[in-house]
Amino acid sequence: MSLFTPASLGPVKVRNRLIRSATYEGLCDRSGVPTGHYVDLYRTLARGGCGTVITGFCFVSLQGRAIQPLQAGIDSDEKIDAFKPVADAVHRYQSRIFMQLAHCGKQTLSRYTHLPVVSATPGAARYFRERPRVLSTTELREIADQFILAAKRAFKAGFDGVQLHAAHGYLLHEFLLPSIGKRKDRYGPDPSTGISLQLLDEILTGIRQTCPRHFAVLIKISGATDSVPFDRVRFTRFIKELSHRELDGIEISYGTMQQALNIFRGESIPLDTILDHDRQYRQSSRCIRFVWKYCAAPFLSIGIRRFTPMYNLEYAAIAREHSALPVISVGGFRSADEMTRALTSGKTGFVAMSRPFVAEPDLAVKLESSSRWRSHCRNCNRCVVATGSELPTVCRYPATGKKG
Ligand SMILES: Cc1cc2nc3c(=O)[nH]c(=O)nc-3n(C[C@H](O)[C@H](O)[C@H](O)COP(=O)(O)O)c2cc1C
Repeated sequence: MSLFTPASLGPVKVRNRLIRSATYEGLCDRSGVPTGHYVDLYRTLARGGCGTVITGFCFVSLQGRAIQPLQAGIDSDEKIDAFKPVADAVHRYQSRIFMQLAHCGKQTLSRYTHLPVVSATPGAARYFRERPRVLSTTELREIADQFILAAKRAFKAGFDGVQLHAAHGYLLHEFLLPSIGKRKDRYGPDPSTGISLQLLDEILTGIRQTCPRHFAVLIKISGATDSVPFDRVRFTRFIKELSHRELDGIEISYGTMQQALNIFRGESIPLDTILDHDRQYRQSSRCIRFVWKYCAAPFLSIGIRRFTPMYNLEYAAIAREHSALPVISVGGFRSADEMTRALTSGKTGFVAMSRPFVAEPDLAVKLESSSRWRSHCRNCNRCVVATGSELPTVCRYPATGKKG
């Protein structure tokens, strides 16, 4: 099986096995409407040969939006028209486009959403430190409807499908973590699996009822997390459950925002960029900033995992073994050789990347013409840290990237 062999994600035929994983763009206006630059980015990715592109996370409601100021939103019908040129631009180059749908749950702040922070479970998220209000049964049903409406809007805008963001500690991911055990209503855990698929099932059923079957639904999940041992046994059980659902593909990532840099992994912590761009840090008092810079920052690297190539592939392999659904691995693919090995080993059916596409949006063309292709990305993670600013997501590696 080669990277450039056509394949299918459920009903959607794709021209190769290469996927641009969801990546926050920083190219919408403050209300979440895509600008012309957002359209240009997706045109460039499709023209560059990427078979499937997944948008950065789009909020399904204002309460579910992130602290990233220029995040896309699909929370109202008025936004449908603004997304149509995005889908058209990608389809012009025979590529496919999925919209990633997200509700941030407790991983946001009320000073950015202008609404109380809400969550499935009590207790603040470590980085965000704002105690959420626990969502009632009725409110969770309303959130299911927000996801369903958002998917319908993506369909109307001409997208090939959506990806439900159930990774990285956001609201849908909370239902897969042991802390959900505290819920006693119908969204509480199944005693035999310890996880709750109720909200996901309601969303999936609703999407299947409102969108035609040729509209695909993918899910992004975290294989493991730092705070909770989502071990192989638990993960296998979860995958077996997912494999009975009407999904068209599973993308496997890592972790939660509790230790965000472990989602990405890198060679060192981009402290200079954090001090320049991190909104939490910039908006703190001078005293807090001083303490953070000189006392807390040196401890940042405790618990940070080192970058290793294809660092989530083993969890993708488990998913492949226990499910017939298309499996997508993301995290640490940096060379043609790694991608070929991952595909031929059968551990994954698709290869997804984020930072390499930030560094080189046309990497698919390069990959196709050289089996020795290697990404320019140095995993410096400056692009990640700058998402807390009002700057667009571009490569900020000092030697090759644009300075922010
Ligand atoms: C700047 C940036 C923004 C990201 N935004 C999102 C996002 O909106 N949704 C998401 O699921 N993952 C997001 N990610 C995570 C990536 O999709 C991916 O899981 C992670 O970067 C590991 O892949 P890589 O090694 O190819 O970069 C983002 C990553 C980066 C670098």
